[in-house]
Amino acid sequence: MRIFASLSLAVFALTPLAATAQTPAAPQVVAQTPPMGWNSWNYFAGRVTDKDIRDSADLIVSSGMKDAGYIYVNIDDTWEGERDASGVLHTNSKFPDMKGLADYVHSKGLKIGIYSGPGSKTCGGYAASLGHEEQDAKMYADWGIDYLKYDLCSFIPDVLEKQAPNDHAAQMRLMFAAYDKMGKALKATGRPIVYSLCQYGWDAVWEWAPALGGNLWRTTGDITPHWDRIYAIVSQQAGLESYAGPGHWNDPDMLEVGNGKLSLAENRTHFTLWAILAAPLLAGNDLPHMKPEIKAILTNRDVIAINQDALGKQGTRTYSDGEVEVWTRHLQGGALAVAIIAAGDSRYSTHPFHLNLAKLGLHGPQSGKDLWTGKPITLTDSQPIEIESHDVLLVRIATPK
Ligand code: GAL
Repeated sequence: MRIFASLSLAVFALTPLAATAQTPAAPQVVAQTPPMGWNSWNYFAGRVTDKDIRDSADLIVSSGMKDAGYIYVNIDDTWEGERDASGVLHTNSKFPDMKGLADYVHSKGLKIGIYSGPGSKTCGGYAASLGHEEQDAKMYADWGIDYLKYDLCSFIPDVLEKQAPNDHAAQMRLMFAAYDKMGKALKATGRPIVYSLCQYGWDAVWEWAPALGGNLWRTTGDITPHWDRIYAIVSQQAGLESYAGPGHWNDPDMLEVGNGKLSLAENRTHFTLWAILAAPLLAGNDLPHMKPEIKAILTNRDVIAINQDALGKQGTRTYSDGEVEVWTRHLQGGALAVAIIAAGDSRYSTHPFHLNLAKLGLHGPQSGKDLWTGKPITLTDSQPIEIESHDVLLVRIATPK
């Protein structure tokens, strides 16, 4: 499947389509900060139903998640039925009335998202949009859809391998054209719809997605609720920070907070890193059974404020010392977020980690707030910092010196 893996974008730099892709995008009216909401895939996968979406919308409101900023309720794959003789795609029996469902979600003051792809089939083998892009976009707008995740999947065998076998340059043009087509179809509806590209972070998607109308683009393959996978994804974000900004975001995939067997520390660190990375905050957990400590992580206003910072500047790993990593994010008004992560085993207390403030461009003790305890903290070079394995210290320094 990794047909583009060795692709160099330089090959396309001279093509007319790539030239188009470099023209500045029109002003964005959506996703001025990273989208926040919930998506059905990480917990429900193919089992999701209309009722699950309604229940989740109810719970986003009653849990306080809506007030904390979670607005999009996104249906992922497996809602699709068959196309009729006029090409109209119907929903399957799990989603008997999509317009009614969208109205319900809207009645809660939330927005609703849906899923398709440029191939004939989705990743789950359901009908996708190939040859029906305008028709589908119009139908989404008629239903009141506010967000589309558009997943490459069968476009590879359906189009790329058939029309341009072993021709990377031609395959790239086909993929640009496919994402561009749906981007334009969404715009033509006149409805503001967040456009989320899902092609697993291949082909330097961050370089061309914004010009095709993409508001976010996956930068990796699928996340799973395992520390090693989450940490591998985080490592793949290095160097992508310059591509993110208001209206266009790197997407290291949806949150697994509260899923699987992630420890509390791992959930906290996962959420911290998504805040530092200016990543979309799309929860993917089982809301009816959300534990209080998981809700506390997902609704930590201080951490969400880092994620949603209006400057829109994605953070980066500033340095690492063994398995301790120091990530920073510059915030509006000159503030700085510093996340110190014990990515491996915790350091022996006989040899604890010490921060090197000069490496962060800081001089002398720094007063800040520990965003996970809510308490004031002073960061110095001399104070040993002991962090449990996979846990994090996240500090916001309002006036760094
Ligand atoms: C994958 C995608 C997942 C999910 C799934 C649905 O390709 O990365 O996030 O959408 O398809 O089939």
